[in-house]
Amino acid sequence: MQHQLAAILADASTGAPVIATRPEFETFKARIVGPNGTLTAAMKGMATVPKEDKPAAGKLLNQTKGEIEKLFAAALARIEQNENAARLGAPIDPTLPSPDDFAGSLHPLTQVREEIVSVFHKLGFTVADGPEIESEWYCFDALNTPANHPARDMQDTLFMPDATRCADASKRGTEAYLLRSHTSSVQIRTMLKQQPPVRIIAPGRCFRRDTVDATHSANFHQIEGLWVDKHVTLRDLKSVLDAFVREMFGADAKIRLRPSFFPFTEPSFEMDLKSPDLGRLSDRWLEIMGCGLVDPKVFENVGYDPEQWTGLAFGLGLERIAMLLHGIDDIRHFYTNDLRFLRQFA
Ligand code: DAH
Repeated sequence: MQHQLAAILADASTGAPVIATRPEFETFKARIVGPNGTLTAAMKGMATVPKEDKPAAGKLLNQTKGEIEKLFAAALARIEQNENAARLGAPIDPTLPSPDDFAGSLHPLTQVREEIVSVFHKLGFTVADGPEIESEWYCFDALNTPANHPARDMQDTLFMPDATRCADASKRGTEAYLLRSHTSSVQIRTMLKQQPPVRIIAPGRCFRRDTVDATHSANFHQIEGLWVDKHVTLRDLKSVLDAFVREMFGADAKIRLRPSFFPFTEPSFEMDLKSPDLGRLSDRWLEIMGCGLVDPKVFENVGYDPEQWTGLAFGLGLERIAMLLHGIDDIRHFYTNDLRFLRQFA
């Protein structure tokens, strides 16, 4: 028995370290502990060992069994390691960031902007762009905004250092530049670049000298819309806004146009929204954008013939829409970069 067990262990000790694959391991294991295995045979042989030798033989058998199990485990661990290395293709780099790390996600304002853009996309609008630092002409004059309009006041709009008193003499007397107070300037930029028909939306950042509170930020975002074609009417305005609101706020959302005034539209309206999907706000009319039919004076300013072309325009605040959609009560959440807030939109 002693010799038999020593031979089995010797065989296992030389065989185990050279096993490279799982099938090899299975064959090897079967040769020792399978039904016809060498160790199995030795265990069966215990029956014939004289009674007085049994305790010693049994102890030796268990020891051998323990050694062989260790050899099996070591061989299996080595095989698994080889398999993993083959799967990874290269040694593991422990300095790489953990795959469990939060991968990040789009900012809620970006998500809502993309949603709005895709709704207008379905209605045939494409995205247009314009600069955030804008000249007074694009922001006000071309949009028929008179010199005494409050938006032109230093108290309301962030002007760049006064160009008329510029230290660089070559720039003195040139036009004033400002951080655009609305995206309506993109209407002008687009119309000067192309002939009608035009159907664009222009998402972008705007700036005003607002004191920051729960609903005001000096830096915020708007989405402008402009559609110029033959025979664009108030009915088109209503149906575009109606479709937009139903896509964003649910099939039962309703809109209401209230007469208002903007220098670049005539007639002008404030658009209110009411939707049963808006929780505690569902029974109220909520003002969400300004809109109207393009004032003929604006067409003249960009060289479009006002007798031939008609248009509709609208402008809405992105933060306002996002706040309503997500029940956010303070505009400052968007800009403080608190991950506890941002991760809710991941
Ligand atoms: N520019 C306006 C504002 O910032 C919003 C606006 C109103 C845009 C009417 C428009 C419009 O295009 O037709 O308050």
